[in-house]
Amino acid sequence: MQDPDHIILRALLQAGDNFVSGSQLAERLGISRVGIWARLDKLKAEGFEFEAVRNKGYRLLQEPPQLHGKFLEAAVAEVYGSINLRFLDAIDSTNSEAERLLALGESTPLVIVSGQQTKGRGRMGRQWHSPPQGNLYASFAWRPGLPYPRMQNITVWLGVCVCQYLREQWQIPAGLKWPNDILIHGKKVAGMLTEARIDADQTRELVFGIGVNIAGKTKDWPQEVAAVASSLEAHLPGRADMHTLAAGIIGTVLNAYSVFRHGDISTELVKQWQECDLLYEKIITAEVNGKPITGQAVGLHPSGGLRLQLPTGNQVILHSGEVHIGTA
Ligand code: BTN
Repeated sequence: MQDPDHIILRALLQAGDNFVSGSQLAERLGISRVGIWARLDKLKAEGFEFEAVRNKGYRLLQEPPQLHGKFLEAAVAEVYGSINLRFLDAIDSTNSEAERLLALGESTPLVIVSGQQTKGRGRMGRQWHSPPQGNLYASFAWRPGLPYPRMQNITVWLGVCVCQYLREQWQIPAGLKWPNDILIHGKKVAGMLTEARIDADQTRELVFGIGVNIAGKTKDWPQEVAAVASSLEAHLPGRADMHTLAAGIIGTVLNAYSVFRHGDISTELVKQWQECDLLYEKIITAEVNGKPITGQAVGLHPSGGLRLQLPTGNQVILHSGEVHIGTA
């Protein structure tokens, strides 16, 4: 039996600007109309606003400013279908939680979302600033059972799909900085962190984490973060629709993984990357084995590596690391 709040919230979400009949909801849930009213009252205390009109029913006027677990679950169910989604008010890191749950034998696909992170992790051992309100912190766990070479381009593939989603559905001019940053007008709005448990013959477990600044207020961020980061909301005409955007991103990642798992995405990846590639034809410097190497970025290799044209005329492919625009 599904959670009654989930059923109520999903019905309100599906209705959009229309009303949902209180008696029909009551009948569906096998509770009284007063029971429905009491549940809506509890949801009001959690940040929702509803309009109630006699003989018409209820409609949703406003959703909470911070992610609400059951509403997010309902929104994901709308765009993707039912999924094992765990929403936590706070956790050290959603990637760490996903790893712990995988170790306990939790079924996959699994999505962990947290309202905030106390030890959010970024690439290269960095910290990921993870305050409450306005941001999405999500991790996805799978047991791919595929050989490691087949998994090499998974992060860039998921990144390109999220980037295209933002461009196509929201007209947000998002771009990608290899390997896994999403930027808008030079400022970072999302970062991705992929971690895997690999055995001799296959990738047993895969955790893909994404942090997205949806509507976080730059004035509340530490100075060093505010200088280089932005939010999706800053590039939208009005207030960001937190739950729709978060659910859209989650659904996009889940769909992108299915496509990846069942076929060869390399050609499509290289083509789509071109449309989002912020480094294309730029002179960049990368750290390789602790040494800087400078060249011109000339697109993505099907393996997910960055193709770099060296001044010597040779081309190299970078498979990991950190790059910056400019010379050393
Ligand atoms: C980076 O740009 O350095 C990658 C940042 C990845 C942050 C996300 S937030 C959700 C998930 N949990 C974590 O601890 N990290 C990732």
